[in-house]
Amino acid sequence: MEYRKLMEVEFREFDREALEKSWKWLNDPQLKSLTMTPDFDQESQEKWFEGLKTRTDYHLKAGWYNGAPIAVYGLKHITGTDGEVFGYIGEKELWGKTAAIQMMQDIIDYAKSRNLESLYCITLKENKRTYRLCSRFGFETEKEVTDDTILMRLRF
Ligand SMILES: CC(C)(COP(=O)(O)OP(=O)(O)OC[C@H]1O[C@@H](n2cnc3c(N)ncnc32)[C@H](O)[C@@H]1OP(=O)(O)O)[C@@H](O)C(=O)NCCC(=O)NCCS
Repeated sequence: MEYRKLMEVEFREFDREALEKSWKWLNDPQLKSLTMTPDFDQESQEKWFEGLKTRTDYHLKAGWYNGAPIAVYGLKHITGTDGEVFGYIGEKELWGKTAAIQMMQDIIDYAKSRNLESLYCITLKENKRTYRLCSRFGFETEKEVTDDTILMRLRF
């Protein structure tokens, strides 16, 4: 996809610095709601972080800007054929500046390198930014998951 970068995101492994930021971000009511994050505590988050090292069904990265983490993104439920894209930009003043486009491109490249056949995203119907982002990349609505959510898929 052709676009002009309004900022340059650096892609890094999801490390402890990003983990600590994500704790703060996911406790923000708007981010918690848009990402459909259930209630969790720091102890369970720590266990989840430690468990990541041995998981092959999960691929997690952080987006950095100006020397600090600003976003988390990746794939979960990776199978032999597909995986679920997820992500959020924690620093809200950076929404609308093409960071998500760059991270989505990174994850699509990764999925192709793993020979996946498609990627999907489950999002709230009201989440227009996510709908626009996915549509730009060619994701198409496949089905309703619940009254409030849809599944969009991109086939390679
Ligand atoms: C969803 C989310 C990651 C999308 O991020 P975003 O910052 O809106 O996306 P980007 O800035 O990378 O891409 C869109 C913007 O890029 C710009 N853009 C798009 N095409 C462009 C182009 N060809 N050239 C230059 N700029 C372009 C536009 O400003 C566009 O904004 P618009 O959609 O309002 O028109 C972000 O809003 C977020 O973190 N939301 C909360 C968490 C969330 O909902 N996560 C998803 C849960 S499923």
